[in-house]
Amino acid sequence: MKQPSTSSAGAANHFKVEAGEYAVRFVESGMAVGLGTGSTAIHAVRRIGRLIHEGVLRNIVGFATSTATLREAEALGIPLLSEDLPCALDVTIDGADEVDPGINVIKGGGGALLREKIVAQASRRLVIVVDESKLSPQLGVTWPVPVEVMRYGFTAQAHFLESIGGAVHLRTRADGTPYVTDNGNWIVDCHFGPIDDLPGLARALEHRAGIVEHGLFLAMATDLVVAGASGVRYVAAER
Ligand code: A5P
Repeated sequence: MKQPSTSSAGAANHFKVEAGEYAVRFVESGMAVGLGTGSTAIHAVRRIGRLIHEGVLRNIVGFATSTATLREAEALGIPLLSEDLPCALDVTIDGADEVDPGINVIKGGGGALLREKIVAQASRRLVIVVDESKLSPQLGVTWPVPVEVMRYGFTAQAHFLESIGGAVHLRTRADGTPYVTDNGNWIVDCHFGPIDDLPGLARALEHRAGIVEHGLFLAMATDLVVAGASGVRYVAAER
């Protein structure tokens, strides 16, 4: 799903490092921290790992939003909570694919939307980290809504998504077979175009059996860090 533009890939990568690392200032010793997924959030994970090793951050426990992040966190030596998530998280740092002016976001370009939403809902603070290319006047303009669906009844789910206005595309791997999430499901990327009624679309998706989760994270982010050509910008969400 991820398709970085070739011309701006180098600059965007630099901005991802800046955004991810900046957000680690919201992590303090003693905190339980949600560890996001993707090429931006990973820079926060790596910085947390470094600060733990330097003794700057102490008594940190992490909780990963995907198996990819889990593996990285283990390799970095970050202590991790058990999979049943036994406590609320103080802060989670995670990326996004599209961010509107109200800091509603689309997530799931990396396929981890279900675990990311579980972790976000269990967090007191959700810090979204992006490069400036992710900013958008309205969700749906630059990115489809990823929808995680059960394989059972897949075609019925796809028809439902079309019936509510989505142009659907089953996400596939390089070999053409369906992409399978950490939870054993498939992902349908749904192009709705600019979405005028975000809560209405979210409700419709949530009411359909067989749809496991969707990538609309509405009014969930508490903080936004954006890195771009003019530096790093921090925005607190007005909720
Ligand atoms: C993972 O499923 C996603 O939600 C990512 O957090 C999101 O796609 C942002 O990824 P990048 O930072 O790699 O663009």
